[in-house]
Amino acid sequence: MSFGSKWVSWVKGRSGLGTFLDHLIPAHANNPTYVIGGAVVILGLVQGVTGVLLQQFYHPSPDANAAYGTVSYISATQGWSFVRNLHYWGAQLLLVLVILHMLRVYVSAAYKRPRELLWVSGVALLVSLWLLAFTGSVLKWDQEGVEALGHNLELSSYAGPLAYWFSPSFAPDVPILIRLNSAHVTLLPIIALTIIGVHIYLIRVLGISTPKNGASKPESERKVPFSSHIKWMLVYGSIAFLFVAIVGIFVAAPLSSVGNTQIEVSKPDWYLLWVYAVENYVGLQAVPFILTPALVLMTIVPALDRSATTDPRKRKVMMILLVAGVVFFVGLMLDAALLPPKSHLGG
Ligand code: HEM
Ligand code: HEM
Repeated sequence: MSFGSKWVSWVKGRSGLGTFLDHLIPAHANNPTYVIGGAVVILGLVQGVTGVLLQQFYHPSPDANAAYGTVSYISATQGWSFVRNLHYWGAQLLLVLVILHMLRVYVSAAYKRPRELLWVSGVALLVSLWLLAFTGSVLKWDQEGVEALGHNLELSSYAGPLAYWFSPSFAPDVPILIRLNSAHVTLLPIIALTIIGVHIYLIRVLGISTPKNGASKPESERKVPFSSHIKWMLVYGSIAFLFVAIVGIFVAAPLSSVGNTQIEVSKPDWYLLWVYAVENYVGLQAVPFILTPALVLMTIVPALDRSATTDPRKRKVMMILLVAGVVFFVGLMLDAALLPPKSHLGG
């Protein structure tokens, strides 16, 4: 036994890594659509590393637009601007991949018994990622960020106790930008990491779902070691990272002029555009009344579809619901993207 492999077996023996990696899983867990969740984990790590690097130069003070000044500095400095681009484009791709992961899970009915809690933890993850992206977009304190915060503050006044933490009256002596920064860099990452822990624990104890009931029998399917799944996670995660890096080399993360609270001229990033469209049609006050039922509907998906079959062709109602939901949200986003910016605040 060589010196190197002696060390590898020493570490495997002391850490339980051998048992962990040799654990057998069904071969279909390595199909590309079943590795999207793993690629999200890798991109999440990239967000953590780039976020900590940005935090070294970012100053979350609204005084004399210090926050905007530090983001401008980061954007104008070779190397650091690339880190900012990675963080920005990484966040966009991460959200796209999470949505694709969710669609795969929905179509393959992986939310069904016994994985209901796995689905609910996924919805909680989606919300925390959305809040991470939203708070991040405010931090840069440019025109878009200041307007996003304006919407946030007005919404919190309509949402009552649910959004009390978001309102300035929660801590009148601490500027909201400082609190949003601490939410972005500590509170939300801690919440997201805790839920990911639960998500991964549940995947491990429940195992991966079997596609299309009857198409393959779990006990007769070929098994592969979990280490092969880690390998595919790294492959797809690296492809995702490479894509973000290439976009980051050529396209700078957007930064508009310094924020002016007196005007409303911006539209938010794509993942907030559907909220913007709701504001266009029914006003900002209506947002909690659309957001809450949408979230409840998403959470109770496992309760809506309790039949034994996982075959999408035999779950017509769920597939119609899915298509209707996608058309509704994408339609709202396109509508908001095509219309000129509108004023929503103080309505
Ligand atoms: C940060 C976000 C997320 C991460 C890192 C994550 C990670 C993972 C990973 C690594 C798996 C293993 C299989 C696979 O990759 O497909 C998985 C499975 C699963 N995820 Fe997620 N997930 C996230 C968000 C979500 C969301 C938004 C939902 C749904 C609302 C969800 C529901 C599920 C379910 C039900 C499974 C079990 C799939 C099966 O057994 O076939 N996850 N997740
Ligand atoms: C999945 C996790 C995360 C997501 C989705 C996310 C998303 C974002 C987004 C969209 C922005 C705005 C980028 C821009 O336009 O410049 C941002 C900014 C920022 N984020 Fe994150 N972030 C995450 C995690 C973190 C973590 C863990 C940290 C630090 C420990 C961090 C630190 C920062 C800082 C300092 C900024 C402001 C600098 C800037 O705008 O360039 N982020 N984040």
